[in-house]
Amino acid sequence: TKKVILDVDTGVDDALGILLAVKSGRMDILGITTVNGNVSLEQATLNTRKILQLLNVTDSIPVVPGAAKPLMRSSYFEHRVHGQDGLGGALRDMPVAVKPAEGHAVDFIIDRVSRAPGEVTLVMTGPLTNLAIAVVKYPELVQQVKEVIFMGGVAGNFGNVTPVAEYNMYVDPEAAKIVLHAGFPLLTMVGLDVTRQALLADEHIRELGDTPIGRYVAESTQDYMKRYSERNGVRACALHDPLAVGVALSKELVTTRHYYVDVETRSDLCDGQTVCDFQSRLGQKPNVQVCMEVDAGAFLRLFVDTLRV
Ligand code: BDR
Ligand code: CA
Repeated sequence: TKKVILDVDTGVDDALGILLAVKSGRMDILGITTVNGNVSLEQATLNTRKILQLLNVTDSIPVVPGAAKPLMRSSYFEHRVHGQDGLGGALRDMPVAVKPAEGHAVDFIIDRVSRAPGEVTLVMTGPLTNLAIAVVKYPELVQQVKEVIFMGGVAGNFGNVTPVAEYNMYVDPEAAKIVLHAGFPLLTMVGLDVTRQALLADEHIRELGDTPIGRYVAESTQDYMKRYSERNGVRACALHDPLAVGVALSKELVTTRHYYVDVETRSDLCDGQTVCDFQSRLGQKPNVQVCMEVDAGAFLRLFVDTLRV
């Protein structure tokens, strides 16, 4: 099992990513750090605790709150997609015994990585604020992390907040810039162009069956699916964050290519846009392993089979 820290802004799909990670049994999850994003830091932390409660994981995985704001900007919540509470209204009245851990996500990441240099994979499924602060606070982190896998950006020219910006990049582009240029030996981007191919449909939810997790997935994805269907004309929803977890579990699910990637931070129109230099026009050293294709069938199989047991 590989040592992993998940960093999340728990909305609907982050929650599904946590379910996949824990249920896989193939990750030694050192902790889950939370960040402002889809919902406030407090709500993201509460949602994360609820998901662990749902999994009956009540004390072995610390939930550590991190940044409550992007580095330089205001919060930009995504209630239209994830609902007022971030879980599409599911687990509304669930009592939560899981407590948030003491301390700050940034210090937690630094501590756990530096205690096991070369061993810890960071799976980031929210804005990159916590990791950016960690890198600035403790630059050695960059060489000590085994790999960083982040869901964010697009290898192409579209977005899901603005015409060109993906949500996690849009919310904290300055943090993304720090992470992209930090010099991580292995930085893997799971962008919107690939996650939009990993679609959860009603048939998959039916396969999960009438279990607490099956019922939770069905309920939490109702509005999320509706929104996707209105925009795309298919009844389904993208498993953005679970795919980042999937890539951490099995690199075979995707093909990657090494490119120079940067993010725009100084444009009214394009802030948060990731720019992949496919043709090496800037003459810069590649900094990101960019996921190019996903075996969506294999990933959906993994997702359903893992959550079903
Ligand atoms: C990303 O934005 C968030 O709303 C999702 O949780 C995911 O991390 C997709 O662009
Ligand atoms: Ca997310």
